[in-house]
Amino acid sequence: MRQAFYALARHALFRLDPESAHRLSIKALKSGLVQWRPAGDVDPRLAVQASGLQFANPLGMAAGFDKNAEVATEVLRLGFGFTEIGSVTPRPQTGNPQPRIFRLHSDRAVINRLGFNNDGHAEVLRRLQKLTAARPGPIGVNVGANKDSDDRIRDYALGITVFYDLADYFTVNVSSPNTPGLRDLQARENLTLLINAVHEARAASRSGNKAEKPIFVKVAPDLSEEDLEDIVQVAADCALDGLIVSNTTLSRQGLSAARHAGEAGGLSGRPLFERSTIVLAKLRKRIGPKMTLIGLGGVDSADTALEKIRAGADLVQLYTGFVYEGPAIVCAILNGLSRAVERENAGSIAELRDTHLDRWADKPMPL
Ligand code: FNR
Repeated sequence: MRQAFYALARHALFRLDPESAHRLSIKALKSGLVQWRPAGDVDPRLAVQASGLQFANPLGMAAGFDKNAEVATEVLRLGFGFTEIGSVTPRPQTGNPQPRIFRLHSDRAVINRLGFNNDGHAEVLRRLQKLTAARPGPIGVNVGANKDSDDRIRDYALGITVFYDLADYFTVNVSSPNTPGLRDLQARENLTLLINAVHEARAASRSGNKAEKPIFVKVAPDLSEEDLEDIVQVAADCALDGLIVSNTTLSRQGLSAARHAGEAGGLSGRPLFERSTIVLAKLRKRIGPKMTLIGLGGVDSADTALEKIRAGADLVQLYTGFVYEGPAIVCAILNGLSRAVERENAGSIAELRDTHLDRWADKPMPL
């Protein structure tokens, strides 16, 4: 019954332009109309511990869906093990002119060039302050920099300071392709300056002897082997907590749809899966078993979520898969992961991490 309702709703949403459809989905979540998974039936074998945080399951909603922290609790109630709000910049931004999101249905993909449209620190902070202390799961805050900022590193550090008491973890997003020059912050020297700055902001915000909140850096999938080497070096030297792999790609490889394929922006969804999983595995292989890695890019089923874990991810996120499959995707993935644990005779999902590491890491870097 519910399945039929969502199939109908999805059909209606796909008749709208992507941005209106997204706004309507947020509204529906806010209204309490959309509820999928009853609380309390989580498989304990799916629980994951990473960077000092407890996750009821390894599946999270990626940044970009709830940019302004309007539905963090509602997203968690769909069954996600965690959610990430943002990217949020110090000052509000309108982003690029519309249209700026394009669905490529036959490829199960999306191209977006939103350009960090968001309500800014003050408004998002106000919303997070309204959440009750009893959250259904960890909430990460993804921080960005204003397009016209004269000091982007200071913008990121400010994000850590402003949200320190309310975030469970932070993501420093240096990989959006839609803010010119932003991806240059992934280069060795810039990345060192950036990580040191956000670590300083964290040290200054931390109260008493409470544990530090983890800070992850989110990287692009369009990196050379040398770029990866630099990121691993800096991450190790600066004692970074983890990496999120990956953001959208500028590549148009593997697209069959002619319509919209030429639009400028970042590509997400199914065609990103292979590329982002190779980068994930190469990073895991170089960085070793300890650092937290969050894998995303083209996860749209239990098999693709499991493959991210097998390629080295502790945790998995998705966004575009949710656009095409709706809220039922959460349950489908969690049930599939439980079955995989069973099938493999493993004690927990974490035991399956790295089981296909070499298979993925040995693939050539996509062009
Ligand atoms: C995104 N993504 C994104 N990432 C980020 O760090 N900050 C952001 O504000 C956004 N905004 C955003 C908007 C839209 C419309 C899309 C489709 C994506 C990127 C997202 O979090 C993720 O990294 C990629 O979409 C790849 O994952 P999926 O979508 O293939 O599961």
